[in-house]
Amino acid sequence: MVANHEAVTDLPRYRAPEDGQLSDEMLQDFRRQGCLILTDFITAAECHRLKARAQELIDRFDPSSVKSVFSAMEQTQLGDSYFEESGDKIRFFFEKDAFNSNGELRQSKENSLNKIGHAMHDLDPVFDAFSRSAKLEAVVDSLEYETPVILQSMYILKPPRIGGEVYCHQDSTFLYTEPESCTGFWFALEDATIDNGCMHFIPGAHRGPLKELHQRGSDGKMGFKTLDHTPWPKGATRPAEAKAGTLVIFDGRAPHMSGPNLSERSRHAYTIHVIDKNSHYPAENWLQRGPDLPLRGFD
Ligand code: FE2
Repeated sequence: MVANHEAVTDLPRYRAPEDGQLSDEMLQDFRRQGCLILTDFITAAECHRLKARAQELIDRFDPSSVKSVFSAMEQTQLGDSYFEESGDKIRFFFEKDAFNSNGELRQSKENSLNKIGHAMHDLDPVFDAFSRSAKLEAVVDSLEYETPVILQSMYILKPPRIGGEVYCHQDSTFLYTEPESCTGFWFALEDATIDNGCMHFIPGAHRGPLKELHQRGSDGKMGFKTLDHTPWPKGATRPAEAKAGTLVIFDGRAPHMSGPNLSERSRHAYTIHVIDKNSHYPAENWLQRGPDLPLRGFD
């Protein structure tokens, strides 16, 4: 059962509007279910362009320069400064099973990375232009932000065989504002299926409370503060399978997870998160920007 005792339904799915302007019906579904799947939002050529650009960035990245292994399942890894200081940089994070016992990559470089983040939208011209398209701006306009700004971006690789599981969480736990204003925009650049670890959501559960806050404590270390102890309802998740080119929009409180990728196919996706600049952004949040790279909207 979901928090409001309504029956769990499949996730709302539409063909993307040509101009990006969400219809009343789409908005109603988004408000009710906490997520919205829009197929054919971007073209195959756009998917290819982003994938090719990511590969260029990966080709230039020297893995020996970084010892950090990022694992979404091992929260202690979040304490790593390489991760914590990536809010205004482009950095590369490995899957936890990327290395063998000799410290060597078990697969190719691109098939060893968990993700690239977290300021590609401001620092890379290709991802900057993509993130600020007129069509995406029209979607964000539909959501009635006062002053939308793009807080972070990630290129998620979910590589074959070792792509890690992501536990059920709410993105506002990590991208918290007062009042809450986070929305996620997730673009499938390759087909995402149950087999290769697509996202799953608990429809309607975004209307329940925020369960955790990830914040810096007085000792300077990042940690989780529990706000609500109620466990997620069992059996309530629904898969958000998405063909390449699909956009999935989700509320910052929408609980979501993804299984491991045990298949032979990668599951590349690009995602950005938008907040309202007029909301208060706590100094305790993990992602901080210096004055040299202020958050920008869609201009
Ligand atoms: Fe997430």
